[in-house]
Amino acid sequence: MFDLYLLKMSDYLSQQTPFYLYDTTLLHRTLARASECAGRHGYRIHYAMKANHNPALTRIISSYDMGADCVSGNEVAEAIRQGFAASEVVYAGVGKSDQEIRQALDSNILCLNCESLEELQLTAEIAQAMNKVAPVAVRVNPGVKANTHKYITTGMEENKFGVHLALVRQALDYASESPWLRLMGLHFHIGSQITSLEPYEKLCHRVNELWQSMDMDSRGATLLNLGGGLGVDYEDPETNAIAPFDRYFDLFAANLRVPSHLKIRFELGRSIVAQCGKLITRVLYTKKGINRNFAITDAGMTELMRPALYQSRHLITSLTSNGPQQTYDVVGPICESSDVFAKDVMLPETKRGDMLAIHTSGAYAESMTLNYNMRNRPGVVVLKR
Ligand code: LLP
Repeated sequence: MFDLYLLKMSDYLSQQTPFYLYDTTLLHRTLARASECAGRHGYRIHYAMKANHNPALTRIISSYDMGADCVSGNEVAEAIRQGFAASEVVYAGVGKSDQEIRQALDSNILCLNCESLEELQLTAEIAQAMNKVAPVAVRVNPGVKANTHKYITTGMEENKFGVHLALVRQALDYASESPWLRLMGLHFHIGSQITSLEPYEKLCHRVNELWQSMDMDSRGATLLNLGGGLGVDYEDPETNAIAPFDRYFDLFAANLRVPSHLKIRFELGRSIVAQCGKLITRVLYTKKGINRNFAITDAGMTELMRPALYQSRHLITSLTSNGPQQTYDVVGPICESSDVFAKDVMLPETKRGDMLAIHTSGAYAESMTLNYNMRNRPGVVVLKR
C-alpha cells in the first residue's frame, strides 16, 4: 500500500513525486518531549490514529509508553496490529456501527467513549449478547469555545459530538445502573489546532464542576480523558518543531481539581506527528495569469486536503531553486477551483521540474488522502538520519 525507502537526505531528490517525507528523528524527539512533559504530572497520552496511521510512524509511537485513540473499528484493529496494547486503546465516534462495537468489545479495549444515550443502550445490548461487561466513558459536549476553525471545533452545542450538558446525568445514571456497562469516567474534546491555552482553562473549570456535581467518585469512576487539540506552528515549523507540551500539561495540572488517584489521559494527534512530515512535489508547469504567476504542482488537494477544506496555510519552500524571489499561486492538478495550496507565496524563481516542500504535512495529510480524479496513491519516504 505504500513505498518505504530508507534514504539519506541527499538521495530523495531523485524520487518519484509526489511523496510524503517523514523524519523519524524528529518524531523520536517529539515523543520523548511529550512523554516527559505528560509524565511529570502522571498523565498519559493516547496517540490519535486519525492524524496519521502510517505504520512507519505508528510502530515508533507505540514503542513509547502511550495508548491509542481511535475513531473506527479499522483504527482499533490497526492500532493493536501496530503494537499498542489493547488495554490502552480508547474508541470514540458519534456513529459506531453494531459491528464496530462488537469488535471493540471482542478486543478488550480500555474504554468506549459513548456519545449518546442510544449508543449506551446499544452497547449494553451488544455486551449482554456477548455475555461481557462493556467499559464505557460518557463523552460530554462541554460547551467550551475553542477559537479554532469551525470545521475542527467539536465541543460546542451546535456540534454533533458528545452528550449535551443537560443530558449528561441521564446518560451517567444509565451507565451506572446497567449490569452490562462499567462506567469508567468522562471524556471531553473541544477541538483541534488550538493555539491559545485559554479554552483549556475553561475546560478544566467545566471538568471540575462536572466531576463533583455528577458524583463521579461515588459512581466509582477512575478515568478522565481530556481529548487532544494542542496546536502546532504552521508558519514557522522549523523554529517551533516541537509543540509547547510543557505549557499544555502544566496548565491542566494547575487548573484541574479532581481526585489524585484518577487516570488522566490526553488524546494528542497533530502535535505528535504534524512537523515530522513534508509533502514533496514537483512543479509541472508555470504560467502567467492576469497579475498572477501560477506554479502548478504534481501534488494536489488529494494529497493534502487541509488548505481546500479549512483554508489552512502551510509553509511552502523550494528545494531546488535559489533565483530571485517572485510571488506565485501554488496550485494542484485536480479539476477543482479549490485545489490551491496557497496564494501569493514568495518563492525563488520557479520553473518546470523544480521541487517544493509543503511543510507540516505529517498530520491529517496522508490519512486524508483521496483518490478523486482516479489519482494514484502518493509514495512515502522515511528519513532516518
Ligand atoms: N480525540 C478526539 C475525540 C478527536 O475528535 C480528535 C480530533 C483528536 C482526539 C485529536 O486531536 P488533535 O490532537 O489531533 O488536535 N482534519 C482536521 C483535524 C480534525 C480533528 C478531529 N478530531 C485538520 O486537518 O485540521
